[in-house]
Amino acid sequence: MQTIIGKDLNEAKILLQRNEVVGIPTETVYGLAANALNSEAVLKIFTVKERPHFDPLIVHTHAIGEIEKYVSEFPAKARMLLEAFSPGPLTVLLRKKAVIPDLVTSGLDTVAMRIPKQELSLQLLRQLDFPLAAPSANPFGYISPTSAAHVYHQLNGKIPYILDGGSCQVGVESTIVGFENNQVIVYRLGGLSLEDLERVAGTVIVNSISSSNPVSPGLLKSHYAPRTPFRLVTASEAASLNLQKNSAVIGFNEWLPVVPKDQQFLLSEKGNLNEAAKNLFAVMRQLDQMQLDEIVAVEFPEIGLGKAINDRLQRAAAKH
Ligand code: TXA
Ligand code: MG
Repeated sequence: MQTIIGKDLNEAKILLQRNEVVGIPTETVYGLAANALNSEAVLKIFTVKERPHFDPLIVHTHAIGEIEKYVSEFPAKARMLLEAFSPGPLTVLLRKKAVIPDLVTSGLDTVAMRIPKQELSLQLLRQLDFPLAAPSANPFGYISPTSAAHVYHQLNGKIPYILDGGSCQVGVESTIVGFENNQVIVYRLGGLSLEDLERVAGTVIVNSISSSNPVSPGLLKSHYAPRTPFRLVTASEAASLNLQKNSAVIGFNEWLPVVPKDQQFLLSEKGNLNEAAKNLFAVMRQLDQMQLDEIVAVEFPEIGLGKAINDRLQRAAAKH
């Protein structure tokens, strides 16, 4: 199969209607999309991604009214959050209706729903009469793609089409929240900050990282892992870092005096955490292709998207 990259909505639409898998842009990362209501189409996603079937998928739609078609309960806080942050990098876990195949949710009774903030994909979703199930468009366990070229690099020959929406504006995956007894529980830190969530929903509970989180089975510790040995250090450890020659450092905005400049990769020289998040996966990918002996990342400030960045860096380091 030849993989084509393009901006042809009609082509994407026809392929999806034929139950094929198409790469689509979102504001967070690129997704590997198929008709969420058709098990045969969804099965292809798992095959292309080499993803285990116990890892449920996120279902994408274009409006809150659409989400209502697929869920049987709509807690007040879920509605409040969706109204405040959709379209946007927010995924809500809601009790599913029977139209959502069990394959999508891995047998769970909740379905993950989100409205992406990406104009091409929103147009596509409006033109389809079914929602799109889509995990991030990377092989299972690898860094998520934030450009069409990233998707092509890893899935060339495995999918017919990649809809090119340019590079992703947010750069880390959506924040996943669930609802229990009027409480908001965060299962994955992501592109919507905790500060923003709490401003609208009040105090939230954050489920800490675990390798076998029974509620979100896909949140394995070793996700987002580059193949190069990867280590995470604190800012104070970085100050006295003894970096080997064929290695590199990922940092936020400050050059380390102890490391040659050409071995340092700053994600936002002007110190903007949103910009750093946008650049994170592309830089991890770039460094992973340089045959380095080691990549060292310096912890980010634990505010705003810094929390989601640290979460991804911890997971990348956990494999090594
Ligand atoms: O930003 C994003 O969310 C991107 C774009 C493409 O939308 N998608 C994405 O999908 O990151 P994926 O499959 O890489 O991660 C989805 C996560 C998985 O860890 C999965 O376990 C969790 O969502 N998930 C999906 N449905 C769930 C459910 N019903 N209950 C708990 N966790 C769920
Ligand atoms: Mg993923």
